[in-house]
Amino acid sequence: MIKTKNRCIKDDFMLSSSELTVNKQNNEPKSLGSQVHVIWDRAKDFNVYDRDGNKWIDMTAGIFTANAGHANENIKKAIKAQVDSDLLFAYQYETEIRDRFVRKLLEISPDYFNKAVILNTGSEATDAMYRILKSWAKENKRKYIICFNGSYHGRVLGSALMCGSKENTMWSGINDDDILFIDFPYNEDDVFDPSLLPPKEMIAAFLLETYQGWGACMYPANYIKKLYDFAKESGALVCFDEIQSGFYRMGELYGYTTYSDNIQPDMISLGKGLSSCLPISAVLGRADIIDLDPTTNLSGTHAGNAICCAAGLANLEFLTDMEFQQGFQKRVAYFEKRCEKLLDLQLVSKVNYKGMVAGIIMESTDVANKVVESCLLNGVLPVCTFRESIKLGPPLTISIDAIQEAFDVIEQAISGVV
Ligand SMILES: Cc1ncc(COP(=O)(O)O)c(C=O)c1O
Repeated sequence: MIKTKNRCIKDDFMLSSSELTVNKQNNEPKSLGSQVHVIWDRAKDFNVYDRDGNKWIDMTAGIFTANAGHANENIKKAIKAQVDSDLLFAYQYETEIRDRFVRKLLEISPDYFNKAVILNTGSEATDAMYRILKSWAKENKRKYIICFNGSYHGRVLGSALMCGSKENTMWSGINDDDILFIDFPYNEDDVFDPSLLPPKEMIAAFLLETYQGWGACMYPANYIKKLYDFAKESGALVCFDEIQSGFYRMGELYGYTTYSDNIQPDMISLGKGLSSCLPISAVLGRADIIDLDPTTNLSGTHAGNAICCAAGLANLEFLTDMEFQQGFQKRVAYFEKRCEKLLDLQLVSKVNYKGMVAGIIMESTDVANKVVESCLLNGVLPVCTFRESIKLGPPLTISIDAIQEAFDVIEQAISGVV
């Protein structure tokens, strides 16, 4: 039995499928994909518990979502108060809670964003960005949206079309020839090369996933600078998909600012950490872009749901509060220090990290899967990518001693596979 302050794994724990796995396989689509066999019974702050009393340090934040910690007390209180107020749903009618949430989101964000589109999921938000970009391109007699091979932007058709992997749209048979893909700069010395692009007056926009999801791959700072300068000089828009990187995941409110203080995107998409729990997403941008075409229909039955807005507002208040911010930078410094140390280990080819996200690139998928399994058996839950990377992105409230315990387990797991 493993029992520490932050972990508990009983002797009889096994990573095997349960009746819930069978039900899920029988009742839900196969394409839902697989997950590691940990049954979530409850999740509190940076711990996940199963039905048998096993307890893991959560290095996933669900999936980069519970930035304010699972079942955050302030967010729970706000949700309960909203439920008790008997306003659970209000379609697109005006409500105070929606107004307060939208105003808070704009208030904490840079001034160059003056409009917020409120939707439900991350995919919907990037899909909305696609629609807006298409309208903007048409109006400005431009054509191309430049995206990156290997990037992920969601599963709704418009967002899927901008994903840099054919699998995301193969099922549809639909292609948008105006979306062009360039290679992601995986190496520190990769340079942005405009000669590979169409004539600059034909480029409508660049869309960047702030870091590439599967391995937390980040752009060389110089690459971003060159791309940004080129786009501005060409009159093209620059948009970031901040769905995973937003809300302090990379150490700052939005991840793109960690590359340079001089970048002012035209639009960004947000989700996940926007509420730390419930489905709510957003696109931030300028009125002249977002309001250009009234036919883009940036709305929905549940978009801006009252309970989601209440959760989102409490989440933003929590994350921007001094009390959270003070301890946060110390935790980030320790997390980054431990990431750096992983490079000393055999089988680790690269570690991409910034703030509280890391992608540990292993020699092979098989090695990565074995490391994940060993972590799970020792009370640490990393993101299993089912490829050659292991991702870490704990709730941002995680304590330093839990980060320490988690990295000790991860290091042992890697050494064990060697
Ligand atoms: C960068 C990025 N964009 C878009 C999405 C899609 O978000 P959702 O799953 O909420 O639709 C994700 C989800 O993982 C993401 O990481």
